[in-house]
Amino acid sequence: MLLRESKLNENNLEKFKYFINTLDKEREQNRHTILIVDDEKDNLQLLHRTLRKKYNILTASNGVEALDIVKKEGSNISLIVSDQRMPNMTGTEFLAQVAENYPYIVKMLLTGYTDLDAMVDGVNKCNLFQYISKPVDPNDLELIVNNGINAYELTLSKNTLLNDLRELFFTTVKSISSALDAKDTYTHGHSHRVTLFSLVMAQEMELDENFIEEIETAGLLHDIGKIGVPEDILCKPGRLTDEEYNTIKQHAASARKILDTIPGLKNISLWASCHHERWDGKGYPNQFKEEEIPLPARILAVADTYDAMTSNRSYRKGLPHEVAAEEIKNCGGTQFDPKMIEVFIKVENIFKEAAIDPVKFYDQYSRLNKAIEEKEIC
Ligand SMILES: [Fe+2]
Repeated sequence: MLLRESKLNENNLEKFKYFINTLDKEREQNRHTILIVDDEKDNLQLLHRTLRKKYNILTASNGVEALDIVKKEGSNISLIVSDQRMPNMTGTEFLAQVAENYPYIVKMLLTGYTDLDAMVDGVNKCNLFQYISKPVDPNDLELIVNNGINAYELTLSKNTLLNDLRELFFTTVKSISSALDAKDTYTHGHSHRVTLFSLVMAQEMELDENFIEEIETAGLLHDIGKIGVPEDILCKPGRLTDEEYNTIKQHAASARKILDTIPGLKNISLWASCHHERWDGKGYPNQFKEEEIPLPARILAVADTYDAMTSNRSYRKGLPHEVAAEEIKNCGGTQFDPKMIEVFIKVENIFKEAAIDPVKFYDQYSRLNKAIEEKEIC
């Protein structure tokens, strides 16, 4: 009996040890990593001793060595404590370089009271979280570092939240666009192809990345006003009456009314509503002329017309690329901005290929897809 009990206790003890080991391992894996940089050995050891119980510690005795560690361990480091006065490179010089590539790492500087210049540099160049005055009190240091780590975790969760919101916005825009494309059975996939052609042109023009991202959103939503157009008119095979045509034309102005209600989409709302304006002022809904028409709308106009001409309709087959391209080029200076025609000429072969397999090309050119993928990797 006693033997059995002792065997049971032994087993429980083993299980307990295993449980504690697993917990230790998990705690070790989830620990934050702190880099300490100081050329004074004693100081380095004091900081190491103070912080090692709670954090993984990396150490360097000068800025060059520390930059090397940051290069290798960058994304694993949560916080850096660096001395200011070091040979070859000062603490602010080192931290300024870190700030360029790793703005989210919390940075702290060890300074003497007299290092006023270092303090100013710290504020201006390093996005410093806090100064720590020398000599260092270990208890104060631990408290300051703990606060820094809390700030780091807060930034991380704020970024995660922002990325989640961004992803939600992108997927909503894409879903609305797909719903629109499905509503108009004869122009299936139109919004996505117009967006793709617009992206091809915007990339050729080397526009700013954020601007291109907005153009993509505008492309996906440019026909959102068609939500209000009855399907029997939108999908009518054959010629439209004047009245029906006027109803369809209202989709441009409707886009503005719909999108203006969404905060943060003012630009996109204006661009989407202007995709039927013409360079000569004979378009709709506002008869804007030349530069009055926002640049993205001038891009959308070319992309929209190219897709309308080359895609099949119930009453006619899509035109071959060569015929549509020729027609578009002939409309430079009347329907289209002549500069946009110059861009179109440079990328028309990509249009031709992309029209054959728009899904594949869309993945390649989409900024929104990339943003979601990057978020998933993070
Ligand atoms: Fe349209």
